Amino acid sequence: MNHNDQPSHTPLETSERFAPKTGRRDFLGLAAIWSAVIAFVGVLLGSIRLPIPAVFPESEAKVKIGPPDAFAKGTATHLSHINVWVIHDEQGMYAMSSICTHLGCIAHRDAESGEFLCPCHGSKFKSDGKVFAGPAPSGLHWLALAFAPDGQIVIDQRTNVKAGTRLKV
Ligand code: FES
Repeated sequence: MNHNDQPSHTPLETSERFAPKTGRRDFLGLAAIWSAVIAFVGVLLGSIRLPIPAVFPESEAKVKIGPPDAFAKGTATHLSHINVWVIHDEQGMYAMSSICTHLGCIAHRDAESGEFLCPCHGSKFKSDGKVFAGPAPSGLHWLALAFAPDGQIVIDQRTNVKAGTRLKV
């Protein structure tokens, strides 16, 4: 074989082997990039939304329970949707949580004695919420009552008040 008989070489840049890949690989590459972009945008939107609470604890804690007329003097009304007793006596109205301070069962009120009894482990509370029997470590919580601008009574479930605090109605 002489010098001129050597097979001719195709330059690399025109070789099919080194030609830029198109088709399936491009599609997969683009799909990966777009997936990353979509994931990034999702995370970004999520983190922007994060400081905005979905539920406003302040407004959740305050519950309108109706006008004072709805609670006649001498009555005790259990509002089971918020686990609160609303009591109207000679001195005014007050609200007491019916959630037992032991493990959170709902205390029932004995209509005759006015005492509260926990069905779970036998804690007993006097009519003013003080514990006098059972494992409960403390009395039932008294909750803040106030008037809303529209004249309805509002219970603030997050604000405990001193036992004996009443709303004058
Ligand atoms: Fe009330 Fe245990 S939960 S006594």
